[in-house]
Amino acid sequence: MMKDELRALKSLAGPLPAFDMEGAPDNPRLLFSLWFRHAVEAGVAEPHAMVLSTVDEKGAPDARIVILKNLDRRGWHFASTDQGPKGRQIALNPQVALTFHWARLGRQVRIRGLARRAEMHERDADFLARPAGARAIALTARQSDTLASAKELEEALELQRDRMRGTPDLVAPHWSLFIVVPQEVEFWQGDTERRHRRLRYRHEAAGWMREKLWP
Ligand SMILES: Cc1cc2nc3c(=O)[nH]c(=O)nc-3n(C[C@H](O)[C@H](O)[C@H](O)COP(=O)(O)O)c2cc1C
Repeated sequence: MMKDELRALKSLAGPLPAFDMEGAPDNPRLLFSLWFRHAVEAGVAEPHAMVLSTVDEKGAPDARIVILKNLDRRGWHFASTDQGPKGRQIALNPQVALTFHWARLGRQVRIRGLARRAEMHERDADFLARPAGARAIALTARQSDTLASAKELEEALELQRDRMRGTPDLVAPHWSLFIVVPQEVEFWQGDTERRHRRLRYRHEAAGWMREKLWP
């Protein structure tokens, strides 16, 4: 049943955009910005959602979606608590991967690199720009703990809303703004005939080098 359903679904049906690999910019950040703008204009849903992959203390992989908060010369930014599994995993091993998938364009971008923390004033600004509800949830400082009941969550939230009323610029002490400093970035353009175009950037002592990959 499942197998037939899956076989009936289309993938990379197109029409898909071209990818001029020869004309790609020297820096992957610039190409990412172009592709990202294209995804926004094409109406891709939540193009800023990305999979963040980490490894745990046993070397086992873990992955979840987070939101891209910024992209600058340093790298790709995301925000999270540092108390949950991902925060603990990054503290033990800062090697991470980010994956974007923009289905409508048949595009994937894969980034491998090292996660480091932004400056404290940057993470404070990120936290304070969050909607009140999101700040209250973060202040509960329980992400990924087991939840006993809805009542438990409601009571913890009420406590934090009270604190926020007294101190509106309260910042959760465990909140972090992480920057993924890229070492490798691969741009993958799907093709309806499966002749996918792949361009990988690798950061070396001399700067960014580029290589094409087999589909
Ligand atoms: C669309 C979407 C966006 C999300 N954005 C974030 C985010 O920006 N930061 C975050 O900590 N978790 C975000 N989450 C929740 C994470 O996927 C995850 O459940 C949570 O961070 C706990 O991860 P951990 O247990 O591996 O630490 C998002 C989930 C979805 C589906």
